[in-house]
Amino acid sequence: MQKIEIFKMTLQDFAQIEKNLMSDFDDFWTPAILKSEIVAENRRYIIAKQNGKIVGFAGVMHNFPALEIMNIVTKKDCRGKGIGKKLLQAILENAEKNQFTEIFLEVNEKNKMARSLYENAGFCQIGERKTYYGDDNAILMAKKA
Ligand SMILES: CC(C)(COP(=O)(O)OP(=O)(O)OC[C@H]1O[C@@H](n2cnc3c(N)ncnc32)[C@H](O)[C@@H]1OP(=O)(O)O)[C@@H](O)C(=O)NCCC(=O)NCCS
Repeated sequence: MQKIEIFKMTLQDFAQIEKNLMSDFDDFWTPAILKSEIVAENRRYIIAKQNGKIVGFAGVMHNFPALEIMNIVTKKDCRGKGIGKKLLQAILENAEKNQFTEIFLEVNEKNKMARSLYENAGFCQIGERKTYYGDDNAILMAKKA
């Protein structure tokens, strides 16, 4: 398998995936939302590259000493190959390095892949938000950094 490398996400990276964001990656964030996230003051976005191509991205919101994971997305045709895990690992390492103490996130209760990704990394459920995603509930998860 080709090596997966992690980089800070730039607007040039965004331009590469903008057109196919919703079809190839994830249809719950529009390009406009992602762009506003990348440039926001307290957000940090990273990309995963394999063979020179962007195969995933992830972002966090800094609210020191807490960190919130905004999204982790793997390109649809690259899922199940360890890219999501690598992005999460990069977030966790960076959180530790920068002395964040807690990491939070929200995930759709029906999103089994994401839930197991987070549970395997040591996140625990700390709450629930009813009908947060339309009819679906959100699970709130947390982990000490
Ligand atoms: C969630 C998501 C990021 C996982 O990315 P991925 O690159 O496919 O994940 P990985 O290959 O690194 O696998 C990570 C873990 O996910 C779980 N997983 C992977 N494939 C799975 C499958 N087919 N069924 C169930 N769980 C699976 C496993 O727990 C796996 O860990 P393990 O290999 O130690 O068992 C990806 O499915 C995605 O982009 N989903 C759409 C966006 C999304 O919902 N993001 C989360 C928002 S909070």
